[in-house]
Amino acid sequence: MLRDVPCFSHPRLLIGGETNDDAGVFLLTDELALIQTVDFFTPMVDDPYLFGAIAAANALSDIYAMGGRPLTALNVAAFPAEEDKSLFARVLQGGADKVREAGALLVGGHTIADDEPKYGLAVTGTARPEEIIANANAAEGDLLFLTKPLGVGIITTALKSGEVEEADIAPVLQAMASLNNTAARVMVECGVKGGTDVTGFGLLGHVYEVAAASSLAAELWYTLIPIHPGAEELARRKVAPGGAYRNLRYMRDKVSFAPQIAEHQRLLLADPQTSGGLLMCVPKPLAGRVEGELENAGVDYAIIGKMRSGSGIDVLPA
Ligand code: CO
Ligand code: CO
Repeated sequence: MLRDVPCFSHPRLLIGGETNDDAGVFLLTDELALIQTVDFFTPMVDDPYLFGAIAAANALSDIYAMGGRPLTALNVAAFPAEEDKSLFARVLQGGADKVREAGALLVGGHTIADDEPKYGLAVTGTARPEEIIANANAAEGDLLFLTKPLGVGIITTALKSGEVEEADIAPVLQAMASLNNTAARVMVECGVKGGTDVTGFGLLGHVYEVAAASSLAAELWYTLIPIHPGAEELARRKVAPGGAYRNLRYMRDKVSFAPQIAEHQRLLLADPQTSGGLLMCVPKPLAGRVEGELENAGVDYAIIGKMRSGSGIDVLPA
């Protein structure tokens, strides 16, 4: 998540800090790559079990986004010393159940006392080296597939301010808590090489990371981008997290919007996603097979743009 991490290089370090990838990848043997990532954050929902599940799904996603399978996980947690311990136990249970669903093992962790609760995982995964999916592997003409709708940051901001109720946004919460495992399996089986997941930098930020790492430009087709119901209207009323405005400011000189794309729609494309979907760069000859396998597996997806020569992002109506 840091843009300015000190970078190491080593002949066996396949992916380090330079390309803003989802995880580091180290070649253990010629047949086996080790994938490591960590992510944690403050609660975005009141239900402690659901928070734990969402935070774990989010952390596991960075292994899936790299084409890997999660193997082991460690809890990373902060919890107020005076708070009811049973709440904390519910958070950990939500995380543990999600790790189990992913087929990985929870092997320990570390907790500190802090006024603001935080939870997430450090996850270790593996992949065959040739299965690794990286930001730098997109190619000209690749179609961009997105597997979860946008708007999660905006809707959870509305949740905090009481403009929506948890009960009203069940599909959004369910999407956040769902693993990207099935989409990742299809991506690897079909031989996709470029991709990431959409998280804190918003769709624009993560598409840009892929474009920049691959020395390409991206084109996004706004009307084809899946958005959670209600999120556009909230964005129109300027209900959005500070991170959405920061992301959009960061992207100002890197993205050009068609005049039809309204200001609130631009903000939506910069909305930080918690546990967002996979963004796959699918070569055109593979697109039909990827579509068929995602449909067979019951994974929702949309084709939202393509990679082309140049630099930066163009957002067009369609
Ligand atoms: Co990621
Ligand atoms: Co990440």
